[in-house]
Amino acid sequence: MDFRRGRRLRKNKLIRDMVSETSLSLSDFIYPLFVVEGENIKEEISSMKDQYRFSVDEVVKECRELYDLGIKSIILFGIPDKKDAHGTGAYAEDGIVQKAIRAIKKEVPEIYIIADLCMCEYTDHGHCGILDDCGHVINDVTLEYLGLIAVSQAKAGADMIAPSDMMDGRIEFIRDALDLAGYEDLPIMAYSAKYASNYYGPFRDAADSAPSFGDRKSYQMDYRNSDEAVLEMEADILEGADIIMVKPALAYLDIIRRAKDNFDYPICTYNVSGEYSMIKNAIEEGLVNESIIEETLISMKRAGSKLIITYFAKELALKWKEENNGI
Ligand code: PBG
Ligand code: ZN
Repeated sequence: MDFRRGRRLRKNKLIRDMVSETSLSLSDFIYPLFVVEGENIKEEISSMKDQYRFSVDEVVKECRELYDLGIKSIILFGIPDKKDAHGTGAYAEDGIVQKAIRAIKKEVPEIYIIADLCMCEYTDHGHCGILDDCGHVINDVTLEYLGLIAVSQAKAGADMIAPSDMMDGRIEFIRDALDLAGYEDLPIMAYSAKYASNYYGPFRDAADSAPSFGDRKSYQMDYRNSDEAVLEMEADILEGADIIMVKPALAYLDIIRRAKDNFDYPICTYNVSGEYSMIKNAIEEGLVNESIIEETLISMKRAGSKLIITYFAKELALKWKEENNGI
């Protein structure tokens, strides 16, 4: 038998590690954080075990802990006290995200802050834009608001803006708005292939952002489509995106692979709330072993993603720290 024997290179951990094709690293992770008004608040999100809503003072402490654990980048979601039809809280100077960014920049300036840019957490109807009388999101009016939000997040000190609204032409519009305000160096990470997905349920609970009527299918992508994702990513690149994103992750690994094969561009994947909670609950119930987390995240790397936004980041950082101490 002189044929290749796959088992030769699987014999022990040393050789398996030497020939491993992908790996996970804390520098690949972006950790999502939810911020609410108030003080001294750290309340667990009922639909997402071990994830919390933090007041500004508490989110600052959390960022210090994260950075010290090796998680160097976060993405912020704001949950305002008051919502209205135009989502004014999203671009208010003392809006919840703006306050959080300023406080974190002051106390933990080392950490990289990405601001999620969308209107659904701030509108009373829960849609990602401005509505006409029939309840349809008006694309080009919404762009004006997205521009305002981007500039206000930039002014607060965000290191990167991540538009998640799926309006047409938003990357170009936001790029222009940022450039005009003097932020030509501020990168944009575009939620390019963002699908209208059932996997966002726990997030919408966490952020209180479920649409009060209808769904998001007139702006987020139809999950039956794949070629269209390539068009969306291409458009965002041409409009000036610095990083393109695929969201969700697990049911969309083929889309990540298409992104990787089509574009020499940094790719980010959002391992969303529904994916998190399904796995978390399955581990909790003893159905699967907790190593399923690493296996799952590696699938995104194998598919071609560089960055992963994941609620598992902190848990893994803690686990890896413990493993290293054990050596
Ligand atoms: C806002 C937004 C959503 C998520 C990230 N940004 C929800 C949505 O589009 O309804 C989902 C993230 C998650 O499920 O973890 N547009
Ligand atoms: Zn939205």
